[in-house]
Amino acid sequence: MAPAPTVTPPALLAPARLRELELRNRIWLAPMCQYMVEARDGVPTDWHLVHLGARATGGFGLLITEATAVSPEGRISPQDTGIWSEEQVAAWSRITSFCRDQGARIAVQLAHAGRKASTWPALPAFRGRRGSVPELASGWRALGPTADPFPGLDAPDAMEHEDIAQVVEDFADGARRAERAGFDAVELHFAHGYLVHEFLSPLVNTRRDEYGGDGPGRRRLALEIVRAVRAAWPEHKPLVVRLSATDWIDGGWDITQSVELARDLEEAGVDALHVSTGGAVAADIAVGPEYQVGFARTLREAVSLPVAAVGLITEPAAAQDVLERGDADFVAVGRAGLREPGWPQRAAHELGVRDPALYPGAYRRGSW
Ligand SMILES: Cc1cc2nc3c(=O)[nH]c(=O)nc-3n(C[C@H](O)[C@H](O)[C@H](O)COP(=O)(O)O)c2cc1C
Repeated sequence: MAPAPTVTPPALLAPARLRELELRNRIWLAPMCQYMVEARDGVPTDWHLVHLGARATGGFGLLITEATAVSPEGRISPQDTGIWSEEQVAAWSRITSFCRDQGARIAVQLAHAGRKASTWPALPAFRGRRGSVPELASGWRALGPTADPFPGLDAPDAMEHEDIAQVVEDFADGARRAERAGFDAVELHFAHGYLVHEFLSPLVNTRRDEYGGDGPGRRRLALEIVRAVRAAWPEHKPLVVRLSATDWIDGGWDITQSVELARDLEEAGVDALHVSTGGAVAADIAVGPEYQVGFARTLREAVSLPVAAVGLITEPAAAQDVLERGDADFVAVGRAGLREPGWPQRAAHELGVRDPALYPGAYRRGSW
């Protein structure tokens, strides 16, 4: 009997592997802050279970949690999730277990907001309140590479060497807790003008010690964190780094420096790059469809790590094109995934794939 013809799924729906982690497709849910920890204790809630759980049942290959702080002072807002306590580990465990049962895999985005910490949640309920949350209203003093503030925010405390050592340890502890909470992967948040990006960018990091100055100095904190996390995180599980490839401003962090960083990250045991841009300083960014994809491609050509592209990739055909052109290995979907938890299911339909495994049994009768 002739063998059954093998049908190759379009790249977007093809399984992939990072270290020993098998992903059912190449679609990632981009990390997105929900600001829904109303108790302000960093413990994820029913909201997070439903939000991430719905996208797990919707067919995403890899879900990335919102920026999840490795310490209370590393939160962007008082209502962020965290991973510094055992109570948080228990709450995350319930979420990872549900999502994994649906066939999705889940990464935690370990984060420290640096000088952009302690800001008001970006929610309509806060009626446009902006800037730093005062200490009397549950805010705290932020930490930064220097005491220079991000425009519009309170000045942070300049970090001493012991503060830096503490942050590195906090990231490693976060990774240990992430393992106990059942996460499949760790993504380190080195983008968007938060702590590590602040150390990378010459526009923000004007320190004169070994954590500032030239390229290796500004990359030092990033690499210390990567090495500490890699040592704390199981060998078989992947480590992803999300970076901003450019500050979009002359004299700032740029793609050339990103390539240098990517080479160091590869050597230090990072398994994939997730390529975003901006956030360290105010800049004019020409936002439009796929506006960051070119940076993913440049990095993909410079190192042998797989890369994820993100940023206004909203339609399945466009996402498929990104992969087919060889611009990236994965596509992360953000806002389109907020309005459509089943985006990957529609993607499969539009790309001509019938994959029952993208649906929980209870939903199969509703499949495209
Ligand atoms: C509501 C919201 C929250 C976000 N929070 C995070 C975050 O926690 N960590 C992060 O790295 N990026 C965050 N981002 C950026 C997204 O991950 C993504 O890079 C960006 O929205 C562009 O992708 P998109 O056009 O598909 O939405 C956030 C974006 C939105 C819209």
